[in-house]
Amino acid sequence: MNKVKLIGPFKQLVPMTGLALKGALTDDQLEVLEDVGIIIEGDTIKSIGKFAELKSAFSESEVHELKGDHTCLPGFIDSHTHICFGGSRASDYAMRNAGKTYLEIAKAGGGIWDTVTQTRKAGQEELVKKTTKLANRHLKNGITTIEVKSGYGLSVDEELKMLRAIQEANNQTSADLIATCLAAHMLPKDFEGNHSEYLSEISENLFPILKEEGLANRIDAFIEESAFSAEQIAPYFEKAKAMGFDITVHADQFSTSGSQVAVDFEAVSADHLEASTQKEVELLANSNVIATALPGASIGLGCDFTPARKILDAGGALAIASDHNPGSAPMGDLITQASILGTFEKLSNAEVLAGITFRAAAALNLKDRGQLAAGYNADFIGFHTDNYQEILYNQGNFKPCMVWKNGELVFDKHG
Ligand code: NIG
Ligand code: FE
Repeated sequence: MNKVKLIGPFKQLVPMTGLALKGALTDDQLEVLEDVGIIIEGDTIKSIGKFAELKSAFSESEVHELKGDHTCLPGFIDSHTHICFGGSRASDYAMRNAGKTYLEIAKAGGGIWDTVTQTRKAGQEELVKKTTKLANRHLKNGITTIEVKSGYGLSVDEELKMLRAIQEANNQTSADLIATCLAAHMLPKDFEGNHSEYLSEISENLFPILKEEGLANRIDAFIEESAFSAEQIAPYFEKAKAMGFDITVHADQFSTSGSQVAVDFEAVSADHLEASTQKEVELLANSNVIATALPGASIGLGCDFTPARKILDAGGALAIASDHNPGSAPMGDLITQASILGTFEKLSNAEVLAGITFRAAAALNLKDRGQLAAGYNADFIGFHTDNYQEILYNQGNFKPCMVWKNGELVFDKHG
């Protein structure tokens, strides 16, 4: 029998339940429970209720009693990262700030290709170590589920190396790593053939291995002038869908057309959207695609934010992710970035928190997390405060004091 534990009391607990998946949210829609505890059995939440009542109802449970004021939220979910990579692109960052654009650097042979070269040089073990280290950094910041993309290998063997490294890193961290195959990140410069030939090579020779080894259930592509066009990607996504993969798209980062692809292929999410106009905003809002803002890429590149307010007001579902990668988004701090997006785009606390909890879970097609209620994964985080508003108010400079993942205390600042 699984051990039953009681954790609390929490001065506040924001369960993020009863909120719509799509559209604007106001803070008065947020349910805030007071003086509550959580009963967990194994890796699952069994009950949430008044701490004192749970303590007598579950008198046999192991009690993890908290001293001082704590506020509890669901473990945060980062639905878009590239934290498996070799090397660094500090020189790109310096070049961009000295006036070169991201696309100019890419055209001159740097950018993503530079990281491909460095990732290919790295051994699988080195990638496992680096990915685990970054995942643990996110976990300490309250991110209990982290999507991780390949896309710096760009050949069947090198993509496999990355995805196997992500799988192994998933065994080594307490966070859940959700792998995505981004072999369609750009046409590799050493591939002897055109875009369509490269995509056929990947779909024919890599997709079946992803299934066989259980390496990834998600296929992503960068739709951009510097990467792949809507026409080039169509047969690739058709094949992926036929094989049962979920589709996600790097869409509308510098030019539009990616969000149309995402809608056409019923993607789970369309991510970036910095260049989206009202037309794309409405297109996404009228679909089931989760629109994902990546404020870390806007901060890293010094460019406009995703029109998050417009997406929500049009009725869209907005997730917020870090895009943590060595090029466009080197910071990798989701709470800071989500808070800053909130101030610039005028998002309510409810909208920002939804974007990094249950709406991010939907972007990953995960139904067992992102909310706190009986039956959900016991993934939750505690902050030393009696007011949940303090979390975003501190714009990232206030981190959780404890992190529970699958019913286990995996980070504890008190201890
Ligand atoms: O999401 N835009 C394309 N891909 C990544 C950046 C990758 C890189 O610059 O290394 C992104 O921003
Ligand atoms: Fe990305």
